[in-house]
Amino acid sequence: MKEKVHKFWKNLAPTLNNMVLNKDIDNYDSKEREEVLSYLPNFEGKKVLELASGIGRFTGSLAEKGAHVESIDYASHFLETNQKTHKNFTNIHYQCIDAIDLDYPKDSFDLIFINWLFLYFTDQQLPYFFDQLKKWLTPGGYLFFRESCFSDMRNYEREEYMAIYRFHFEYEAAAKTTFEIIQEGMIETYIKHRNLTNQYYWLCQKKC
Ligand SMILES: C[S@@+](CC[C@H](N)C(=O)[O-])C[C@H]1O[C@@H](n2cnc3c(N)ncnc32)[C@H](O)[C@@H]1O
Repeated sequence: MKEKVHKFWKNLAPTLNNMVLNKDIDNYDSKEREEVLSYLPNFEGKKVLELASGIGRFTGSLAEKGAHVESIDYASHFLETNQKTHKNFTNIHYQCIDAIDLDYPKDSFDLIFINWLFLYFTDQQLPYFFDQLKKWLTPGGYLFFRESCFSDMRNYEREEYMAIYRFHFEYEAAAKTTFEIIQEGMIETYIKHRNLTNQYYWLCQKKC
């Protein structure tokens, strides 16, 4: 899975459409971003880790409020676009690496932000990664994640792409073993603009 998904993203142009794999994104991009950001806790002056940041649809907004943003993606051309777009920010550090290979000292971040990443992780990687996220967060720190959930096929695969569309309760169960879930729900913009009810988000807190 890892190689196939990496190859897919590496060969995709750094465009807005490609980030969301939908060509109508212009119609709802700002509304969707606004909605996603509205679910975040106050992170003014906080240290933020953004995983799978892509071309940076959220990076600038995170850096406007956060003290520091660590922006991670394994597609270097996406990070270059992200960096160019946010060249005026001095508080963003970019790292091109597979998120699964990351490690940070305990209590490194106050907020970890993920908008689509776990669908590219195997079931075996997921519990390990939740433990990592917990370790990296400060006590009381927050994890926000949003994922595409159930589809007609759980393990979706076509010639050049694959993803795991888990049921939302699978993510809920995985998150609950490690975090306290503060809020969860569906992304309304996707219901309104795409008639899609498979976009879920979770705001979790590290249990002290
Ligand atoms: C659907 S795009 C989302 C990008 C961005 N979060 C957004 O909402 O616009 C998924 C991103 O995840 C990155 N990605 C996928 N698997 C990854 C991994 N294991 N480590 C780092 N980045 C990964 C891809 O390169 C791509 O930029």
